[in-house]
Amino acid sequence: MKTTFGPQKILFPMPTSLVVTGTMEKANIVTIAWVTLLTSAPPTLGVSVGTSGYSGNEILKNKHFTVNIASVDIMIEADFCGITSGKDIDKFEKTGFTKMQSKHIPSPIIKECPLNFECKLVKSSLVGTTNHFVGEILEVHMDTNKLQDVNKPGSFDVEAMNPLIYVGGAREYRKIGEKIGDAYQIGKSLK
Ligand SMILES: Cc1cc2nc3c(=O)[nH]c(=O)nc-3n(C[C@H](O)[C@H](O)[C@H](O)COP(=O)(O)O)c2cc1C
Repeated sequence: MKTTFGPQKILFPMPTSLVVTGTMEKANIVTIAWVTLLTSAPPTLGVSVGTSGYSGNEILKNKHFTVNIASVDIMIEADFCGITSGKDIDKFEKTGFTKMQSKHIPSPIIKECPLNFECKLVKSSLVGTTNHFVGEILEVHMDTNKLQDVNKPGSFDVEAMNPLIYVGGAREYRKIGEKIGDAYQIGKSLK
């Protein structure tokens, strides 16, 4: 048996990301869980940002942003950036997050996040009251001490990164669980 609920915006798990737009002098942070990789060539990320906040218009104006994946250690600060507005406060000042210069765009990355993407806005579409932004990934930064091999981006230690997982609907934060299999491999047993 299944219970149906009609159209609902419930999906889980999602990474808790902190989207930054602006410059090293003045930048804002918004917590965004609706984030996903969209295409491989060029590599793009999609982020969905509501029109009621400060960030949507800023991203449209600046045409660049960074996506910073939050870890469990910064849960309180990440939540804070999702319940306050850049219209009223300086979230970098309030959280104590450290701005780091991006390589290709003026929007800074957040040092305290273990994984950071520099994105150039290449497309935007308004669906209802939400802007869907497509950002071309120009650079990826990862904490060196969380890589098993500094030459391999896929060699990150996911437990050391300890990403902050958001469960939409229940509105909960969780931690990632243990590894249970090798993707693209384990299904071969049914071939
Ligand atoms: C865990 C969490 C996830 C969120 N995800 C999104 C999201 O995906 N899209 C969105 O528009 N707002 C999302 N929000 C709400 C915004 O972060 C919030 O409206 C914020 O105050 C807007 O800040 P700004 O006015 O500085 O842009 C989320 C908030 C939290 C706490």
